[in-house]
This record gives sequence, C-alpha cells and structure tokens, in this order.
Amino acid sequence: MNVLYVCTEVYPLLKTGGLADVSAALSAALRDLGCDVRLLLPGFAPIAAGFVAEGPRLKLSATGGPEIVRTLKPAPTLLPGRLSMTGQPAYLLDAPALYHRDGGPYLDAQGNDWPDNAQRFALLAWAAAGLGCGGDPSWRPDVVHAHDWHAGLAPLYLQQLAGSGPRPATVFTVHNLAYQGLFGPDTMAPLGLAPSLFRFDGVESHGHVSFMKAGLQFADAITTVSPRYAREIMTPEQGCGLDGVLRYRADQLTGILNGVDYAVWNPASDPLTPAAYDHDRLAGKALAKRDLQRLLGLAERPDALLFGAVTRLSEQKGLHLLPAVLDELVATGGQLVVLGSGDAGIEAAVAAAVARHPGQAVLRRGYDEALAHRIFAGADVVLVPSRFEPCGLTQLYALRYGALPLVHGVGGLADTVIDASAQALAAQTACGFVFHDFSPDGLRGAIRRAFDLYRRPVDWAAVQTHAMRLRFNWRDAAQAYLGLYRRLRPLPGTGRA
Ligand code: ADP
Ligand code: GLC
Repeated sequence: MNVLYVCTEVYPLLKTGGLADVSAALSAALRDLGCDVRLLLPGFAPIAAGFVAEGPRLKLSATGGPEIVRTLKPAPTLLPGRLSMTGQPAYLLDAPALYHRDGGPYLDAQGNDWPDNAQRFALLAWAAAGLGCGGDPSWRPDVVHAHDWHAGLAPLYLQQLAGSGPRPATVFTVHNLAYQGLFGPDTMAPLGLAPSLFRFDGVESHGHVSFMKAGLQFADAITTVSPRYAREIMTPEQGCGLDGVLRYRADQLTGILNGVDYAVWNPASDPLTPAAYDHDRLAGKALAKRDLQRLLGLAERPDALLFGAVTRLSEQKGLHLLPAVLDELVATGGQLVVLGSGDAGIEAAVAAAVARHPGQAVLRRGYDEALAHRIFAGADVVLVPSRFEPCGLTQLYALRYGALPLVHGVGGLADTVIDASAQALAAQTACGFVFHDFSPDGLRGAIRRAFDLYRRPVDWAAVQTHAMRLRFNWRDAAQAYLGLYRRLRPLPGTGRA
C-alpha cells in the first residue's frame, strides 16, 4: 500500500503543535506495518535544511490548478528524497519565494497570516494531486492522506486532475476544526476553481472559500483525532460552522485516537531530564522536581504540589481560567509553572497573576522542547483546561511521566483521562482529574480534588502508577488507519469536482 501523507509540519524539523508529532510518528508506525508512506512537505527553510534530495526534480502539472504554478519564478518543483535524521522518504515542494521567509509557517513575525497563504497552501494541494496522477513515474500512491486545512484542497484538485481517469483514494484528517483556511471569494479564479464550486456543496462556507470545507466535502473518507471529537464536531456548539457538512458525511467520518511516540516521551530513557525513573523506581521523579524548581527559581519544597502547563497560549487551551484560581492554588501550598507562547492578552494575564507569587509561580514565555520534557518529569499535575481539544498530546505525555493530568472533559481529553472519583479509585482505573463546568469554579473544584488526593499518599501513588503504565501506542492508531485505507474505494460521485 502506497500512501502520500500531505502535511506542513514534522517533528523535529518544524513544529508549532501536535500536528508535527503526529506526522513524524504516525507515518513511521504505518511504515512499520508495511505501508510505503511518503511525506509531501512544503519546502520551509527548516524542513529543506533537514532534507536530502535523491532523485531528479519533478515538474508540477501546469494545466489547471492555482495560477501560481504558471507565474512563479523560478517555477515550483518537487524534489524526491529523505528526511536526513529519520530516513523517512519524502517529497519537498521547492518554491523558495513562497516558503523561505522569516517568521512562522503560517504567520509572519508580527503574528499576521501571510497574505498569500491561499496560494502557498493551494500549491501544496496541487502538488499532491499531481503525485496522485502519476507526477512521479517511479512511485504512485494508492491513497492520498491530507492533514488539516493546509492540505484541504488536495482531494478536490485530485478529482479535477484525474477527470474520468483512475485516481488514488483520499483521506482528510481534521486535527483542529477551528483553523479553517478562509479566503475571499476573489481567490476562486486564481486557485483555478470554477465559479460553480462556490456553493454550499462545494468550497463555500459562510461567504468564504474554505480549504477545510473542501477537504470535508471532497475526500473519500474523513477522520479526526479522537472518537469524542468526531461526535462533538457534528454539533452546532463545536462544529465551527461546519457541523452541517460533517453530519451530511457522518458515514464517512471516524475518530482515531492519536498515540504517543514512547521513544521520545519516556522517563526511563529521556536524555532531556535529570534522572531516569519509572513507575517502579520513582526516586528520579523527585530529583526532576527539585531540578525544575531550581531551574525556575521556585522554592525547593519537595512537598509542594507542583502544577505545570506546556501549551500554546490560545483561547482553545483555556489558560485564561488560570489567573482567577492561582491565589488559592498557592495559598493551599501549590506551585505553578506555565511554559507557553501565543496570544499576547492571555500571556499578559498569566504573567500578571504569577507576578503576585514570586518563588511559587512562574511563566516561561516561548517554545522550548527541552524545558517541556523537564516540566512533564518534574510536575505532579499537568493542567490541560482546554475549551475544546481534538485529541491533545500533553495529557498523554503527562500520564507517562507520572504527572497526573487535570483536564476539561472534552474531545480527546475525555477519551483519555479517567477522573479520580471514588468509584474509579475503587476500580483502579483513575488516572487524573476531569472537570465539566468550563469556568474558574470548575477548574478550582478539580484543583481542590487534586490537593485532596495528594494528602492521601497511598491513593496518589496508586493513581500515579496506573497513569504511568497506560499506553497509547501509535501501532494501534496506524492499524486503524490501515484498515480504513484498505476499505476505501474512490467515490467518483463525491462532491461536485
Ligand atoms: P496543539 O497541537 O493543539 O497545540 P497538542 O497537545 O496536540 O496541542 O500538542 C502540543 C505539542 O506541542 C506537544 O508536543 C507539546 O509538548 C508541544 N508544546 C506546546 N507548547 C509548547 C511550548 N511552549 N514549548 C515546547 N513545547 C510545546
Ligand atoms: C491539533 C489539536 C490537538 C491534537 C493535534 C494533533 O493541534 O489541537 O488536540 O492533539 O492537532 O492531532
């Protein structure tokens, strides 16, 4: 089975969130199951720097598709090759004028969308369509698997390019429905999209061209990253305006839970943490806690209940609930570290709250992979109070490191964290704390329950041990994807391409 995996991030080369972890680990797990998976990535500078070309350059089809294929100088091309660190086979979409820029992959240094994002990511989808239709004479995918809005046009372009001829099946995975890739109607023509597609059963969504909608409308199958989120996004409350199309395509929508790369996230072998530990030898966790307190200038109190958060600071992640509960958290004997970057308003509010508690609470701004590992190792509790969460990876990492996740019971958080209720404690299934009322009071209640459990060391140890022994293996997820690929037949009648 040949699979073209179309995405914009891959760990460790380029990562803004969980998408990068998934691209690296899921594609590797599929390879372990015998799939010939090849990544198709935009040639962003950090990706190009970790890529080794191995074959002759491939041209993109210049018939149809986004006009930038014909106007960009030098013309965009595809380079077949490998990622140098992992050996993963990949295609690099080489178009330096579009992808070599200071700033992030989606936003400029000031945090604004790049003005030509429609063209930049339409080109990625067009390159995927080309590979799906024989663009590389030496390799042809059976399945084109596109991830998130950046690759959303791939199923549509593939249908257009293949016409009545054979084509690979297409899968579109939603990692986060809140980011949709919305552009004005005037982008239709430059993207090579016929005016007749600007309809509710095409790419139109609430007056915009939506790349996410295109993926949902034209892919043969849709997946998202947890079963609960798959159900949630079919409701008006969580559907981000796309619940209608998702309900319409409910028979083709499945939720497949993400996994964890335990080669990277393992306290027994993590080179980024001060001492190895596991559920049956926890001394290293106490050392990690002391190391973290020292590093961050927190009081070295082994008995303090140390809360951590490793997160994008966005509305989604619910960190705006934190300032209102921090005084009580510290007064009860707790400590807090937040590692995050993103929204300036949320950052300022968290910064102001922690400033009231020097030596007990700290905000580290920015993105720091090594510090993230040290926080999972050193913390007792990891906070993930997200308003919504398609899957969430940090609660899964926290479990493995024996830091009990405290989460809002939505999406993948609800699918993976079992609350330490009396019943679950008795059944030995508890692994964290779950709250349902998305408010400071809801969060405060769960924090109080974390303190209660911490005062009962035997119960705490039992929950912690259970948490550390849980496994969310990528192999299971990869088997589910492979099963889906095998069941797929291209649906020529899907959509109106
Ligand atoms: P999302 O993709 O919505 O941000 P996930 O929980 O799926 O959420 O994945 C987040 C990933 O990014 C995890 O690997 C997490 O450790 C990492 N991460 C998030 N914020 C930071 C940060 N400030 N520094 C280092 N790693 C971070
Ligand atoms: C998105 C979601 C997150 C998920 C990740 C990987 O960034 O916000 O919940 O874990 O994608 O699928």
